[in-house]
Amino acid sequence: TLNATSSDRAADRAEQQSGSPSAAARRLPEGFVLGVATAAYQIEGARHVEGRADSIWDTFSHTPGAVVDGHTGDVACDHHHRFAEDVALMQRLGVQSYRFSTSWARVCPDGRAVNAKGLDFYERLVDALLTAGITPWLTLYHWDLPQALEDRGGWPVRETADRFVDYALAVHDRLGDRVSTWTTLNEPWCSAFVGYTSGEHAPGRQSPADGLAAAHHLMLGHGQTVRALRSRDANLQLGLTLNFTVADPVNPADPCDVDAARRVDGQMNRMFLDPVFRGQYPADVLADVAGLGLEDHVRPGDLATISAPIDVLGVNYYNGGAFSHLPPVTALSGAPATTRQTRSPFPAADGVHGHPRGLPVTSMDWEVQPEGLTRLLVRLHEEYTGPAGTTLHVTENGAAFDDRPDEQGFVDDRARVEYVRSHLSSVVDAVEAGVPVQGYFYWSFMDNFEWAWGYAKRFGIVRVDYDTQERTPKASALDYARIIRTRELAV
Ligand code: NOJ
Repeated sequence: TLNATSSDRAADRAEQQSGSPSAAARRLPEGFVLGVATAAYQIEGARHVEGRADSIWDTFSHTPGAVVDGHTGDVACDHHHRFAEDVALMQRLGVQSYRFSTSWARVCPDGRAVNAKGLDFYERLVDALLTAGITPWLTLYHWDLPQALEDRGGWPVRETADRFVDYALAVHDRLGDRVSTWTTLNEPWCSAFVGYTSGEHAPGRQSPADGLAAAHHLMLGHGQTVRALRSRDANLQLGLTLNFTVADPVNPADPCDVDAARRVDGQMNRMFLDPVFRGQYPADVLADVAGLGLEDHVRPGDLATISAPIDVLGVNYYNGGAFSHLPPVTALSGAPATTRQTRSPFPAADGVHGHPRGLPVTSMDWEVQPEGLTRLLVRLHEEYTGPAGTTLHVTENGAAFDDRPDEQGFVDDRARVEYVRSHLSSVVDAVEAGVPVQGYFYWSFMDNFEWAWGYAKRFGIVRVDYDTQERTPKASALDYARIIRTRELAV
């Protein structure tokens, strides 16, 4: 964890490195939407309220040693009870759009039957947003599979994709007249490989084969849901959110380092992009994971389903990385200090080692690399979304820092202010290069349950005092509100 002094230094360096001339008084493109994002399990709490049953994250967080300090999402930000207050705060900040997820275990507690009370909550939330003039952006799956479905095999089992479609249609039955943007999955790479291969996330399995089976069935569930929603209403904006890295070789002249970067790009980015936009898994990735059973799960017609056209690709970007076939002298840590042993999330991780580059890092030990976002958006547009006529939104970008509240609970988070400005500036660079990026959601609206890290890492622009549930906008929230108001990045 960074102390205040080193995060100040990080901010200073970020200021120099992000080429601040680009951020100075730069205007946002016409019509560009600024929003904030959250996810159900990370904020809602209300574990068994109104018929909700456990998801894999309830089971996992209650497993000793799985989450830092034994934290769980039982209460989280108590958003289920405080949503009206939260929406009012978003409105005061001027937030234009709110990306949230619905909890499958609230809507279908046993994985099958629909719980009307679960849907009532999302109806109240969406109505509050619309009244406040905030556009809802709904994500159907942000990692919280009903435990009942994990008990039947979870994502490595094909049937889970069918249950996902049923759940999606139940949510659409209730909210289809009020929500126009629907994304199926958030970061299927994490659901598949951090959940079923590295074991750092729920359900905590550690199997490359299960991770690959899960990846395929997640994407199948995505494609089936896009088709089902599309046939109900041709006017919906449909898509999914993927998490990307920008993988560079440590030594571009060393073919082994180039190959390490290729593997990371393959198993993280192209493994999900190619099925959606090209209707096939990349040949080099299939070769890397040969023998791990992926192709046994791919039935005729699956890739046609997965490549059903989408309107919007959600881009989650936090950082890139430099990769080598050799281990670094000193590695970036990045792993939560839990007692669980985890393995690499890459099913075929041989010869892949991340190297620190001396860039400033956040308290997750993630490098701050705004220019990577421009490169990523340009590449996505040129190689995937442009030819398909799909638009782009940055659906997540943000940073955890070691926030120090003053006596009033105010956090003067200069490093986060600079992080947001420099990354927005990188998005504007991409727009100026011709990429149709239409919006940006900061992750996250407020501090929340950061998965295996529990409440130890704070990404919010709004501080949450977990003892009192008091919300206090940080300096970054005030600066974000200023950007929204003035449409200019820096003062
Ligand atoms: C990715 C996830 O979608 C979100 O749930 C998480 O909190 C952030 N990134 C930060 O790690």
